[in-house]
Amino acid sequence: MTEPRHDPSDLSPLRARLARVGALDAAALAAERIAVLGRKGGELTALLRTLPSLEADARRAFGAAVNELKQAFEAAFDARAAALDAARRAREAAGIDLTMPGRGRWIGAEHPVTRVIAEIVELFRELGFVVATGPEAETEWYNFGALNFPADHPAMDMHDTLYLDVPEVPGDRGGRVLLRTHTSPVQIRTLLESGPPVRVVIPGLAYRNDPFDASHAPAFTQIEGLAVDEGISFVDLKATLGHFARRFFAADTRVRFRPSFFPFTEPSAEMDVGCQICGGRGCAACKGTGWMEILGCGMVHPNVLSNCGVDAERFTGFAFGMGPHRIAMLRYGIPDIRLLYEGDMRFLGQLGGGR
Ligand code: DAH
Repeated sequence: MTEPRHDPSDLSPLRARLARVGALDAAALAAERIAVLGRKGGELTALLRTLPSLEADARRAFGAAVNELKQAFEAAFDARAAALDAARRAREAAGIDLTMPGRGRWIGAEHPVTRVIAEIVELFRELGFVVATGPEAETEWYNFGALNFPADHPAMDMHDTLYLDVPEVPGDRGGRVLLRTHTSPVQIRTLLESGPPVRVVIPGLAYRNDPFDASHAPAFTQIEGLAVDEGISFVDLKATLGHFARRFFAADTRVRFRPSFFPFTEPSAEMDVGCQICGGRGCAACKGTGWMEILGCGMVHPNVLSNCGVDAERFTGFAFGMGPHRIAMLRYGIPDIRLLYEGDMRFLGQLGGGR
């Protein structure tokens, strides 16, 4: 312990503390009052107690300074306490209660569908696919004809397709104007614009005249894929899409291909992955089958290639199309597609934190 010195200039640290009293909050103020003026451990109290043992001269000068400081502290503590009290009363009168727990701030996050699209595009980018896009308003030729739909195909019915109330586009590639019913017309635009070799993924919106229900939305996302080059075979299709499924879901994800039909591919298939919810044992989400369908695919029909001026003898290709809304539902076990459209933060917040 150092001997207390009795030089009035040694009081400067206490004077500095005095200057800060006016900024203390209620709890700090109470603590500071005890630390300075407390009857047992108070610093000024301790100094006052040394006075009687001092020489008369020192006692007079130092005692006066300490007493003055003590009064200044008392006045400052009282003034600060009164100010805090007045502020608290004013808040209470205004109905503000600072002791109420605060509201959490919303922290934004990517929508699960946006995240799924970004991940899928990135996985194909690693394989050399680039992103292509196209217009959402298309002519019948791009949306159907060039894709080898026969002229009377039922999908062209008013029932499925939303036609726009604008004049028909004349010419070979024209026809009625519609909201594209799938992203496949961008296959046509890509082949016409850049020809083979092409490797593209096409994220975008597609529209159908479907009422909203648990598994349908009138506007939904798709990701289309197209690879056309010399020597591409069904082996490339299976290897590419199997790789995608194992990267996107899990390394041990099983896949299977079932024969299917699309006008623009031959042969056509649908790819299933082992159910992500039950691991293949069978549950409500996979309707007990243990499998979930995630995409349609196939070898590009030679008619599609020749409709785009591509030599179908020399070039082959594969294509695929999937629905990110559906895939997000499978991955996160979301039972109703409408949850992905409603923007309800109570729901989205559960999926917002990344994986
Ligand atoms: N266009 C199809 C649909 O909307 C999806 C699709 C299936 C796209 C097979 C493809 C494909 O490119 O090869 O249902």
